[in-house]
Formats: sequence, structure tokens, C-alpha cells
Amino acid sequence: MSLPVERPHVDPDNKTTMELQAVLPLTAKVEDGHLFIGGVDMVELAHQVGTAVYVMDEEHIRKQLRDYLEWTRFHWKNVDVAFAGKAFMSVAMCRIVEQEGCHLDVSSGGELFFAQKAGFPMERIICHGNNKTPQELQEALDARVGRIVVDSFEELRRINEYAIERDMKQPVLIRVTPGIIADTHVYIQTGAEDSKFGFGMRDGLAMEAVKRAIALPGIEFMGIHMHIGSQIFTLTSFAKAIEVIVHFMDEVYEETGVFVQELDTGGGLGIAYGAPDQPSSIKQYGKVVVDDIKEHCLAHRIPVPRILIEPGRSVVANAGVTLYTVGTVKSIPNVRTYVAVDGGMTDNIRTALYDAKYEAVVANKADQPRSTVVTIAGKHCESGDIVIHDAPLQPAEVGDIICVFTTGAYCHSMSSNYNTQVRPGVYMVKDGQARCVVRRETYDDLLMCEIFD
Ligand code: LLP
Repeated sequence: MSLPVERPHVDPDNKTTMELQAVLPLTAKVEDGHLFIGGVDMVELAHQVGTAVYVMDEEHIRKQLRDYLEWTRFHWKNVDVAFAGKAFMSVAMCRIVEQEGCHLDVSSGGELFFAQKAGFPMERIICHGNNKTPQELQEALDARVGRIVVDSFEELRRINEYAIERDMKQPVLIRVTPGIIADTHVYIQTGAEDSKFGFGMRDGLAMEAVKRAIALPGIEFMGIHMHIGSQIFTLTSFAKAIEVIVHFMDEVYEETGVFVQELDTGGGLGIAYGAPDQPSSIKQYGKVVVDDIKEHCLAHRIPVPRILIEPGRSVVANAGVTLYTVGTVKSIPNVRTYVAVDGGMTDNIRTALYDAKYEAVVANKADQPRSTVVTIAGKHCESGDIVIHDAPLQPAEVGDIICVFTTGAYCHSMSSNYNTQVRPGVYMVKDGQARCVVRRETYDDLLMCEIFD
């Protein structure tokens, strides 16, 4: 077991909610000391529907998708934006993505099933996974998904076989690892050569995969996919990977005479988890990714491909918050104060897993300065169940509503039933209305798969 991380001393920052701009959902406001999102009073909502609960700012989500479309298509008309469903999957989210004219990236049979149930157009689906099961692949083919991203020779062989059985040709992208180490947590780096994902370029495997894809009768080779990692702050990692990939596209043309028609650059744009964080904007990202692809293609004298991007986190993370109720406050003199809430690692595993940082406020004291520093602890049976270590916070009392920001991505989708905890519901807020899009689980839901003899 590793030792606990050494943490720097944190002082109260005396900030009020509206000073945490970088992490606030688009429509966050403070009125009469209460935090409002989407025109809805978070304190009232928490009291009405109970906590813990996830709340998502619908306008914020839609704006992110529109910004991605605008700032990529500004540079090249032939760009599509696929939301990475793993960041936040629900039927309501699939519908928003559909309404905004975007594509959807699914990474399992379950995510594909959600998209189908939401009535999402299957031609706009991109299927992912480094080990899609034979069943998942056949489900994808039967659904007539737009693209399958191929991760291995075995998978290529299977897709070809299933496509021939169905008398069809399946359009695919070949996933290539560009050998770039992205500047992010090692668990979420994916573009390095030593990776479980995709085909390496230096060892010739990527070229071999492309050649087989072109030759196989059940496969329609459409292009190349890459994804170098997630929560990436410096755009230079993207720029480096694009340079390498476009060079590879040129090699494909040289060796096969086939132009790569599509290039999918994956997701990965970082976002602010802490108020001082300064991630790159969607506008800057669009310029680097799309302009660089264009420039390198021009330099290599190959056609500019249709470009696909797959943002997840940067669409939903800052749109979402989690509301909790303070259950106990425990002060250990000269050590720290624990503020325990009615959730924790079951609704947000990211602190325990990645040592992720979050900002929080007391939603019913949102206009007060964060004049204390406390550790916000979960309710689960282990010491690592912490939501925020050393969080500047307004003085918290039992019954207060705590709002943790930036929980819209990879919290609901990575939630669990540990301790046989029911998972929270999700509310979309907009124009003063709160709409339940995922209801809180019940004890009966927890029993659903149990067999009683
Ligand atoms: N495309 C592919 C192929 C991916 O694997 C991912 C994320 C994305 C797109 C979306 O990346 P984003 O824009 O969200 O960075 N559970 C981790 C994140 C894992 C990301 C996995 N792949 C976390 O909570 O930070």
C-alpha cells in the first residue's frame, strides 16, 4: 500500500461563491445568500428532492457543444463533434447531444443500448473499446453504427467476419497510438507506445492494420483515430500528436495509394477543477487541432480529411455539481475538522482514485467568505473516502447544503453501490425549472439482481 500523500498547508481564501468563476456552471448566481443554477435555488432543490443529488446546468452543456461546433468548423467546414458518453451517460444527455447536431462516442454495449433507447441516430455513433466483446461487436453491426474504432487485429478479423455474415461492409477507423506522452495523470494517458490501446506506429503495426482493413471485404476503411489522454492542459501535446499522425496519413497514401478520408483526434481537453486553474479554451483547442491538421496536410500535399473530435469532460464537467447535506462536524483540536456529508466515494470516486481536487461552497451561505478550511468526508467505511481534502469553505454546520463544483464528468458514470449505497439522481436545471433525468435508486433497485431461493 502506498503512503498517504503529503499535502501542503491550506489557508482559508475568504472567497465568496461568485469569485470561483473558473469552476462555476454558466448560469450560477447568488441571491439572498443562496446558490442558484439554471434559475433554480440549490438549497430549495436539495430540500425538495433530498441529497446527495447531481445537478446539471443544461444551458452550460449546450453551450459547450455549440462552442465545439463553432470553433472547429470556423477553421474547416468538415468537422463533427462526438460527445464521449463515458463522461456522462443518460437518455436525456443522448437527446441533448442529438438535438445539438453532434455525434456520440460509446465505449460499451451498455452505452450503445442507452443511445438506442434514446432514439439516437445510429449513423452518428462511434464505437470504442480496446476489447469489445464478440457480442458488443455484433450488437454494433446489427445497430448499423456509423463507425467502429478498431483496436486490434483480432477485432478487425471479427468485424470482417460478422460483416460478411450480414452481407454488409462496416466503416471503421484504425486506432493508432502516436507515441506521445500527454501532460496528465498517468492513469489517463493513452497515447504512449506502451499502451493497451490501439496500434503502435513505430513497430509498423498501425500500417499493417490499415493495409488489412483496406483489403478485407467486410471492412470499409475510413480513416485513423487517436486519443492521447484526458484532462490535458497544454495544447502542445495535441499539436505534437497531430504532426505525427498526419505524417502517418501521408505514409498510408505512399504505401497503399489510399487517402485517409477521416481523422478522429479523440478527446482530452482539460478543464478547471480549482478556481485558479487556467485550462485552454475550446476556441484555442479548435484552432490548434483543426488548423494544424490543415497545415500539415497541405505541407504533405494530401487532402484535408473530415475531422472528428470526441470531447467528454470539457462538455459536462463544469456544468455539473453535487449537492450534499452536512450530517456531522467533527473538530480534532490542532489537527483538522471533518465535515461529513451524505455521499462520498460512491458518487465521486475521483478524489480517492486520482487525488482529484474540487472546490465547494455552503450553498445556503453562498455570499459569505470561505473563512475556514475543512476536510469534506464521505459516509463510507474507509478513511480514503474523502470528497475534498483541506477545502476552503464557509463555516459549515449540521444541516447545511454543501455544493461541490465540477462533478458533471466521470462522477455519475463512475458511481458505485459500495456499502450497498443507493446512487443519487440527476436533475437538469434550466430557466427556473428542475427536471429529473435520472431518479435516485431505491433499496428495491439494489435487490433487482438478487436471487431469492
Ligand atoms: N475518446 C476516447 C477514445 C476516450 O478514451 C476518451 C476518454 C474520450 C474520448 C474523452 O476524453 P475527455 O474529453 O473526457 O478527456 N475516468 C477518468 C477519465 C478517463 C478518460 C477515458 N477516455 C477521470 O475521471 O478523469
